[in-house]
Amino acid sequence: MEGDFVKFEMDKVPAHVAIIMDGNGRWAKKRFLPRIAGHKKGSENLRAILNAAGDFGIKCLTVYAFSTENWGRPEDEVNGLMNLLRFYIETELEELNKKDVRITMIGELSNVAEDLRKSIINAIEYTKNNKGLRFNIAFNYGSRSEMVRAIKLISTEVANNNLRIDDINDKIVSEYLYTNDMEDPDLLIRTSGELRISNFLLWQLAYTELYFTDKLWPDFGKKDLEEAIVDFQNRKRRFGKL
Ligand code: FPP
Repeated sequence: MEGDFVKFEMDKVPAHVAIIMDGNGRWAKKRFLPRIAGHKKGSENLRAILNAAGDFGIKCLTVYAFSTENWGRPEDEVNGLMNLLRFYIETELEELNKKDVRITMIGELSNVAEDLRKSIINAIEYTKNNKGLRFNIAFNYGSRSEMVRAIKLISTEVANNNLRIDDINDKIVSEYLYTNDMEDPDLLIRTSGELRISNFLLWQLAYTELYFTDKLWPDFGKKDLEEAIVDFQNRKRRFGKL
């Protein structure tokens, strides 16, 4: 960064960044707008942050778009969020594909409306051979249900004599999570000043560096992402060792 001593090191960029995009509701409230206006602004900001992530050389960006707990919000907000994702995929897919972005998803698609499910599957299929940034959307995702799902799958393998209890280890558990084909996040960013993980990637965040900022998600810009990365570059990661 110019003007101060903190330096951005291009060769020490976190490969996988996960973001809890929090604060859309408060952003809208401050402007006397409906909450969904905040989510809309948040989804526009996501476009900017995706571009920035590509510019900085981040390989994978995982964003928490809708949690299993978000179904408990008022119906119009839930519908609004579903429509936003629909709209987002419709309007962004071509552009993302041109930028060589590969779209993937983690979460449970089975109880998502059929047209949205199809559109998500289509976006994943359409971009599957792209080699640029991986844009991983956590949608209808909850870490505990992901783990329960993994436990059921592993138990079934054991019951069918395909796996021995003694052979279960953390590598095997990772293979049964939605994230089985990706590295754990190097950096987690949560916006809006809340200091919690909210059922996001509990297993995968074991050695992730955590970064919290007071900025509300719609206000979190490229410069803020740069600051988060510089902060990350100044951490000493020991992975439990000395
Ligand atoms: C948290 O803010 C944010 C969400 C529950 C949804 C995040 C969704 C988006 C940014 C847009 C949709 C995503 C895509 C991929 C199109 P909050 O509502 O909890 O904010 P508050 O804590 O201020 O109320």
